[in-house]
Amino acid sequence: MKASIYNCNVIELPKIHNRAGNITPIASNKDIPFSIRRIYYLYDVPGGETRGGHAHYELHQLIIAASGSFDVVLDDGNNKKTVTLNRPNYGLYVTPGIWRDLINFSSGAVLLVLASNKYSEQDYIRDYAEFLNWRRNAG
Ligand code: TYD
Repeated sequence: MKASIYNCNVIELPKIHNRAGNITPIASNKDIPFSIRRIYYLYDVPGGETRGGHAHYELHQLIIAASGSFDVVLDDGNNKKTVTLNRPNYGLYVTPGIWRDLINFSSGAVLLVLASNKYSEQDYIRDYAEFLNWRRNAG
């Protein structure tokens, strides 16, 4: 069974705070439901720009607004939902098989991604019609 958008949840991450600032530690398979094998971040996104526009066959991801805010539009081929991220101690868990668009970046936003595997172009579905076709096939 392929995951639906309802399997993609916002996770409240640990926050160690005092008056000198906060720390959010994230441990694989403890604070998030996968092992982290790659980290990347998006920044200097021009106003009005849209990113994402793809799905992954296998990759699990946690998306965090390390700074600023943006919206993530999730789509499983049947339903869509929009999640606003704007706090560094919350992350959106995105299961494999979900199309995502990244929109409405605030100026200075930093989108941090924790990913379950190394970069592989073969794991991307970048064509929406192909995505829908894949979602509608059994398995
Ligand atoms: P992509 O994942 O399509 O970006 P976004 O979803 O943020 O719009 O990646 C954009 C380009 O960067 C693409 O040519 C592949 C490259 N890239 C890497 O080489 N390594 C990586 O870990 C990532 C995430 C992207």
